[in-house]
Amino acid sequence: MNPQIAVTGATGGLGGRVARRLATRGVAQRLVVRDPTRAPVLDGAEVVSGEYHDAEAMRRAFDGMRTVFLVSGAEARDRLDQHRTAVDAAAAAGVERVVYTSFVGAAADATFTLARDHFHTEEHLRASGMAAVMLRDGMYTDFLPFMAAGGELRGPAGDGRFAPVTRDDIADVAAVVLLDPSHDGTTLDLTGPDLVTMAEVAALLTEVTGTHVAFVDETVEEAYASRASYGAPDYEVTGWVTSYLTVREGELEVLSDDVARVAGHAPTSIRTFLAQHGAVD
Ligand SMILES: NC(=O)c1ccc[n+]([C@@H]2O[C@H](COP(=O)([O-])OP(=O)(O)OC[C@H]3O[C@@H](n4cnc5c(N)ncnc54)[C@H](OP(=O)(O)O)[C@@H]3O)[C@@H](O)[C@H]2O)c1
Repeated sequence: MNPQIAVTGATGGLGGRVARRLATRGVAQRLVVRDPTRAPVLDGAEVVSGEYHDAEAMRRAFDGMRTVFLVSGAEARDRLDQHRTAVDAAAAAGVERVVYTSFVGAAADATFTLARDHFHTEEHLRASGMAAVMLRDGMYTDFLPFMAAGGELRGPAGDGRFAPVTRDDIADVAAVVLLDPSHDGTTLDLTGPDLVTMAEVAALLTEVTGTHVAFVDETVEEAYASRASYGAPDYEVTGWVTSYLTVREGELEVLSDDVARVAGHAPTSIRTFLAQHGAVD
């Protein structure tokens, strides 16, 4: 059977999970990856290469596809341009539907700078003439142990609350939506079941993993200063700092039933996830 669904980011955490779910359901698919040697080997999957900035490669990669799962790209100064190029390539290839991984609270004036990219990508998609589904993912539960590496969660999150969601739950929703056009035109908030502060996350990490984790509620100035030695580009450091600040501002204080409604099961709690996967380095 010729594939009609293209899955980008299939070498990554989320795209790989979605590709495996489609393969398990016996769905033919095309995996669009930067490095074909790292693509997962799955029944019914063909592999093509393409990077979002390369309009011609992306148009070829999407040729003949009806539906595209577009995973947001790695942080880059020109990430928004890359996303727009990939969206335009999908439209030029005749794609009918795009399912895009956005972020909770995506807005032009979002505190989290990367959420602004997501908003403008969403806007570009809405204007493209293709049907679109925006999966506005919360912060990944999967990343909480990494954020706490060294025994500290450190950032200007204050007492703000957020509802982390696992990549498995997002992938469950994505697989359903990719196969069911009745979701076209919708924007889904994919959150976990718990609204928590960073201090509560630190306490949970301590309790469940046995490694003591402290939350250090930095000022914005302290947050930039404590990251200055990493040598990362400004846009990246700003992304890290504002990912905490958006919590403090209450922009991630969203609790949605979209995972349960679409995936058909309750989202995974932070405690359950940490008990299964939560070692802190
Ligand atoms: N909600 C959150 O908390 C959160 C946290 C982190 C990231 N994100 C966003 O969510 C996305 C998916 O998460 P993930 O866990 O699957 O990330 P991941 O494991 O890093 O995977 C990202 C995937 O996208 C591919 N990719 C990245 N930039 C690309 C580009 N310019 N052109 C083509 N392919 C590109 C990567 O290819 P390679 O394997 O070749 O690198 C990889 O397959 C991330 O890329 C990021 O935008 C969200």
